[in-house]
This record gives sequence, structure tokens and C-alpha cells, in this order.
Amino acid sequence: MDRSVTIAGMGYVGLTMAACLAERGVKTVGIDVDRNRLALLSKGETTIYEPHLKDMIRKNLVSGNLSFIEDYKVLQESNVTFITVGTPSKTDDSIDLEQVRIASESIGKELKTKRDYHLVVVRSTVVPGTSENMIKELISQNSGKTCSKDFGLCMNPEFLREGSAVQDMMKPDRIIMGESDKKAGSMLEEFYNKIYSTHMPKVFRTSLETAEMIKYVNNAFLATKISFINSIAHLCERTPRTDINIVAEGLGLDPRISPSFLRAGLGWGGSCFPKDLRSFLTFAQSQNIELPVISAAMKVNDIQPILAVEKAKEFLNDLKEKCIAILGLAFKPNTDDVREAVSLKIINKLLDEGAYVRAYDPAAIENSKKMFGDQVFFAKSAQECIKGSDCCIIVTEWDEFKTLHPDDFRKNMRRPFVIDGRRIYEPKEFSDNMEYYGIGIGKD
Ligand code: UDX
Repeated sequence: MDRSVTIAGMGYVGLTMAACLAERGVKTVGIDVDRNRLALLSKGETTIYEPHLKDMIRKNLVSGNLSFIEDYKVLQESNVTFITVGTPSKTDDSIDLEQVRIASESIGKELKTKRDYHLVVVRSTVVPGTSENMIKELISQNSGKTCSKDFGLCMNPEFLREGSAVQDMMKPDRIIMGESDKKAGSMLEEFYNKIYSTHMPKVFRTSLETAEMIKYVNNAFLATKISFINSIAHLCERTPRTDINIVAEGLGLDPRISPSFLRAGLGWGGSCFPKDLRSFLTFAQSQNIELPVISAAMKVNDIQPILAVEKAKEFLNDLKEKCIAILGLAFKPNTDDVREAVSLKIINKLLDEGAYVRAYDPAAIENSKKMFGDQVFFAKSAQECIKGSDCCIIVTEWDEFKTLHPDDFRKNMRRPFVIDGRRIYEPKEFSDNMEYYGIGIGKD
């Protein structure tokens, strides 16, 4: 394979992948239908905040390894195309495959006039059967070519985490790869071997449908793990001398369980877990299968953020005209992404209750302003945010908030009460000095 690739869809995954491949010396062309986005990217500007990404894009635009274009014609000069377009939810919660359809048709139309074998790799999260029944068919119909002969198809889900996407792309811990046939899978494996060389992770080769299923099950399992520990946190609060963090630590010592994704908090959000769980459930229903464990995980997650509001109400009796400070708007630290962030649910509920909301986040204020406008006062610092407030809710565990001491809250707040929704503070240090509620701590 010559080392030139095209990537269709310059969203979060596609852009990270493009920058990382270019960084590894692969001539990479990013395709997108959004001209404004292409213009920005070509100037070295990004639409997303991700550590290291902008520097890598700028460096590789200069080196010539990276370029951005609207036209799928560029496929003629490459041997492999990755599909990384978005797969949002429809209003009925099922998966919206419109962008996948457009990308597949566009690839098919280009392959019509291409002589050489071409490998198409699906990285978008799609429900099982989509690669075989839709993507393969659309490429075949539009190109007049045959899969496994003129072109190959792989389904290679991504597991990038926002905030560490570059690192996850540069050093993945596994590669899951569904394949239409051996040739397609071997070509992709060889491609990754060149990219990762001595750091090549374990490769797991499967059918297209299995790879699609693994991606959903992976996200569903992680989200369920968090909802599980969040439910146990409620029980800990009713059980003297227990603490969910210590329970999780002990639990994680069992190698069959592992300590990760056992941090109790106000729930999970983001661009993947909520959307993917909804699509997966809808897919299962279409097959007449109930997935009660996943439904329960979603139910726990719907209630979890509201718990913080209930605690505030319990302490202040009534939230009407009370001033509540929200520290953290992004769905997790090190990102400006507020998609399905728990902060949105909390702020909406507080506003419904008639509270005044002050909020601060190191990166996500601009994105939050688009949702709340002047319904919320956006502060320029954590200290300014808590000033004069009656209660402060820690919604996202940014490092910046961890440096605050009880004195900062005591000096600035009207009534010093902290709801530590992410357990970033030492409970004893805080409860000795002020009103403090941390998720999952049983009272003595
Ligand atoms: C996730 C998957 O991890 C990734 O593999 C997939 O490709 C995309 O979805 P991401 O959405 O970036 O990645 O965030 P992640 O770090 O997984 O966290 C998701 C949510 O779970 C966040 O809201 C986070 O705050 C929450 N979380 C995570 C917890 O509440 N507790 C935990 O222990 C871990």
C-alpha cells in the first residue's frame, strides 16, 4: 500500500486521526462537506478543543503531509479511505445514517473510474449490519464494482476519549477490526503495523457485524459500570462509615473487575455514551430484544444529576432566588464539549426552580453561552463564580478546582455549602470547616 490516505468527515474522530497519521509521516487528506470548516482547518484553526491537536495540524499543514479538501476526487490518489462522519440520534432515538449514506455514495461514485483496488474502512459508530447491508451496497451500486474483489471493506471502531484523543490515537491499546474478507483485513493490519511498528497493539479480527457490536457493547458496558457504582453510592450515603470511593477501590482490586470507570459522580454525558446507548437500545428493540441492564443504566443516569439539585434544595429549603454556583460545564475535564453534559440538566432544573445560576468552566463557557445566553451569569474565574452564592456544585473535576481550599469558599460565599459532585475534595478537611456534601459518603 502506498502511504497516502483519505479520511471522510473532519469531525472529532476524523480530524484527530488525520493529524496523527500526518504526524506519523502518512500523506493524509481530510474530506468534509462543510466549506467553512475546511477553510478554518486549512488555516490551522480547529473547531474543537483537544490537547496537542492544533499544533499537530499546523505543523503538518506546513510539512505538506496534511491537507483538507471538499472533493472526493482525491480518492483517485489514495488506496484507503476511512469513513469518520457523524452518526447522531434521530428524534425517535434511532441512529441517523444520513452522513454515512452520503459518504458511501460519494466513495462509490469515485471508485467507478478508479482502476486499482481500494480499501474502505468504517470508523463511525454504526449499528450492526450497517457496513454489510448499507455501506457495502451503496459503494457497489454507485461504483459498479464488487466487494472483496475490486474493493475491500473493514469496520474498525475508534475508542478515542475526548481530552486524550491524540494519545489514544497514537498509542491505542487494541485494534478491533471487522473485515469483508482476509485481503481487506490484512491490508488494514499491515497499514497499522507501519504506523505503530514496535508499539503495535493487539489486533482482534472479526466479522463486520461483530466489530460494530463490540463498539456499542464497549460503551454500554462502561456506562453501565458508572451507573452501577453511582447506585451503590446512594446506598453508601445511608450506611454509616462507608465511602463509595473506598468501596470502589476495594472492588477494583479484583482483576476481573478493574478499577477504571468506577468513579462515582453526577453521571455520564458527552457525545458518545448517551447517543450510543440510545441507538443501541433502539437497535435491540428492532430485533425484539429488551436490554434491561442498559435501560436501567440510562435510568440511573437520568436521575443522577438531579440529585445535586435536591441536595441544594434540602439545605436551602427553597431554591427560589437563591444563588447557586456551578463549577464545571464541560461533560468532563480537558474539553470544551458540553454535548449532553450533566451541567445542562442541573442548570435547567435550577432555573426551573427559580434559582440564580452563576457558572464557570476553564474551557466550555462559549459553548454553554450558546445554550443559556443571559439566563446564566458566566464568571471569569472560579473565585468570581462562587462569590455571594448560597451553594456551590462541583460538576466537572477540572484540576483548577482542586486547588480551592475551604477558606476560598468561606470567604467568598454567602452561605458556604459545597456539593462535591465529583469527589475532588478531602471530605474531612471540608466538613470540619463548612457545610459539605460529597457523593457516596455515609454519615458517622
Ligand atoms: C467515551 C469512550 O471512553 C470512548 O472509548 C469512546 O470512543 C467515546 O466515548 P468520552 O465520551 O470522551 O469517551 O469520555 P469518557 O472518558 O469515557 O467519559 C464519559 C463520561 O463518563 C464523562 O461524562 C465522565 O465524566 C463519566 N465518567 C467516566 C464517570 O462519571 N465516572 C468514571 O469513572 C468515568
